[in-house]
Amino acid sequence: MAKRVVLAYSGGLDTSVAVRWMIDQMGVEVIAVACDVGQGGDWDGICERAGKAGAVATIVADVRDEFARDYCGSVLRANALYENQYPLVSALSRPVIVKELVRAAREHGADAVAHGCTGKGNDQVRFEVATRALAPDLDILAPVRSWGMSREDSIAYAERHDIPLEASREKIYSIDDNLWGRAIECGEMEDPWAEPPGGVWEMTRLRAVEPREITVAFEQGMPVAVDGVAMPMAELIMGLNDTVGAFGYGRLDMVENRRVGIKSRETYEAPAALALIMAHRDLESITLERDLQRQKIALEHRYAELIYDGLWFSPLRDALDAFVQSSQRYVTGEVRLRLEEGRCIVVGRRSPYSLYDFGLATYEAEDSFHHADSEGFVRLWGLGIQTWAARQTQAQAQAPEPG
Ligand code: ARG
Repeated sequence: MAKRVVLAYSGGLDTSVAVRWMIDQMGVEVIAVACDVGQGGDWDGICERAGKAGAVATIVADVRDEFARDYCGSVLRANALYENQYPLVSALSRPVIVKELVRAAREHGADAVAHGCTGKGNDQVRFEVATRALAPDLDILAPVRSWGMSREDSIAYAERHDIPLEASREKIYSIDDNLWGRAIECGEMEDPWAEPPGGVWEMTRLRAVEPREITVAFEQGMPVAVDGVAMPMAELIMGLNDTVGAFGYGRLDMVENRRVGIKSRETYEAPAALALIMAHRDLESITLERDLQRQKIALEHRYAELIYDGLWFSPLRDALDAFVQSSQRYVTGEVRLRLEEGRCIVVGRRSPYSLYDFGLATYEAEDSFHHADSEGFVRLWGLGIQTWAARQTQAQAQAPEPG
């Protein structure tokens, strides 16, 4: 039986009730770990709430730089979009949070980690699989999954134990956010036919109307500057969330396949993530050799699936990461993005390593392409198909149906 538990603490209703509930029902000591992944929060208030709920200590870990560089950076270089849309906002923060939980568990001699996820979602999978990858000896507690309380029950429980709440009764959406984006679920959106109410959008509320252009500079696949101003990755992402989000760009409305077999309607806003992935992919179009680019495209979704499915810490992701890393050697250059109401589009790209050859591409007088070479090339390229068409399609017309 666990004695000292490190809990991934958000300051919300469930994790606050979880502190008290684990103390009362499991007789453990609880250390709350709140990770700053760029969600913005009243950290003093969060610490105070954890204390009132009964935590013996609360640790606030600012992991924004690490999260931006190592986690968002990896997803960006891999152009990893789950089911071709979702830039893995929540999926991506879980492994970095688990890293902090395990660190805290070691430092404070805890023998278990705990999370506040329900049994229906992906996040339980990510917390637990990541924990087992980093610390196979630690126990894992999932109080919210086992307590069987409704939302009303939890609110009543909190009130009974004097745990201060933040207007929990009015909260109808389940929201998870970090500097890579924001996920909004539940409420009326559980009907996939119903349009998300306007009020759910925050990062992408339209605030700018005058179209403008920005230039994003990349070095070896990592964004390093916007409009010539160099900045660390976390800052660059947060700045772009603001600039791009102001044009109402970056919304997703999709039904996705959860790891646990449920189809679920999800809405997201991720202005910087989506704009950066678009720009990065575009820069690859001029800097990656064709076969490398094709192979990379074939692997990108696998990479996204691994992260979505909670396998950030896995040998396959490590190996794919090595491939992606190696592919980025010449992905250096600039991309021009045009921002208009509800839109963000690429309008130009350049690189000192560009493989775009004007002489080869042009239809004008500067053309340096050897047109005569094409004749034999195309004839051989189509030779197999021609042979097939001549023999089998004719034979088929005469032969009986197979079987
Ligand atoms: N469906 C998304 C994912 O699995 C978002 C999860 C958001 N989590 C939350 N607690 N609201 O990554």
